[in-house]
Amino acid sequence: ARTYVITGAGSGIGAAAARLLREAGATVVGVDLRGSDITADLSTPAGREQAVAAVLEATGGTVDAVIASAGVSLPTALTVSVNYYGVVELLTALQPALARSDAPRAVVVSSMSSLQPNHPPLVEALLGADEAAALEVAEQLAADPQTGNLIYASTKRAVSRWVRARSITAEWAGAGIPLNAVAPGIVTTPMTEQLLASPESTAFVDAVVPMPLNYHQPPESIANLCLWLTSVENTHCAGQTIYCDGGSDVVLRGEDA
Ligand code: NAI
Repeated sequence: ARTYVITGAGSGIGAAAARLLREAGATVVGVDLRGSDITADLSTPAGREQAVAAVLEATGGTVDAVIASAGVSLPTALTVSVNYYGVVELLTALQPALARSDAPRAVVVSSMSSLQPNHPPLVEALLGADEAAALEVAEQLAADPQTGNLIYASTKRAVSRWVRARSITAEWAGAGIPLNAVAPGIVTTPMTEQLLASPESTAFVDAVVPMPLNYHQPPESIANLCLWLTSVENTHCAGQTIYCDGGSDVVLRGEDA
């Protein structure tokens, strides 16, 4: 049986992926703040180190696939720590364990919001891998609710670009590890419960994220795509951010993008 590490396995998309994989007979090691196998806070360097140590102990040091789903959508600097560093630091630390697998794979849950307006200086600071500098930019943005809303899209843009850049390096492509991302539209999970609680806020969400194909999506719609991208069958998909968003990418960027 393949061994999967899933961050954010306590809720939403991560929980759906964990359930589907367990039903299919895989071994799943979930990492989350609560409600999973390994309890760890991926927003801090110490929490990430603790998570990696616990994963290596639970798996014996070989990981067949990582599904990085943990994330938050707050207009604060915490979003930078979880959505960017909580993903790239963890994947980097687990790369040697992946490299020991016969068929290693990794996927990151990004977002269609990686296409929405962001704050380029924050994206550049994140890709520059200076966590202190990036957090300072995020703190400045967070001081004003208008600019605070740019933080989430910036973290998703940056994580998709990180995946694209890393995917063809010696550590990933060279080690035979397909590394990709997925970009959901609006998924009905606890993350969006508040947003969809009233007709007014739902109308706002639908204007920003138009989904002509089947409207808001269940977490399984993303979990199943993550399962394929991390399956043995995926031998050549590298560095992509795959939009699985009811068509919002096409509506927003147009047919010739
Ligand atoms: P969710 O809120 O149901 O699940 C997220 C999980 O991440 C929770 O269990 C939470 O405890 C965990 N988490 C948060 N901070 C953490 C930390 N510091 N350390 C460890 N675990 C932490 O949300 P959902 O919808 O399942 O989101 C999963 C991913 O999908 C996120 O990266 C999110 O940004 C992304 N996404 C979600 C969309 C949606 O509409 N729900 C749309 C596009 C992307």
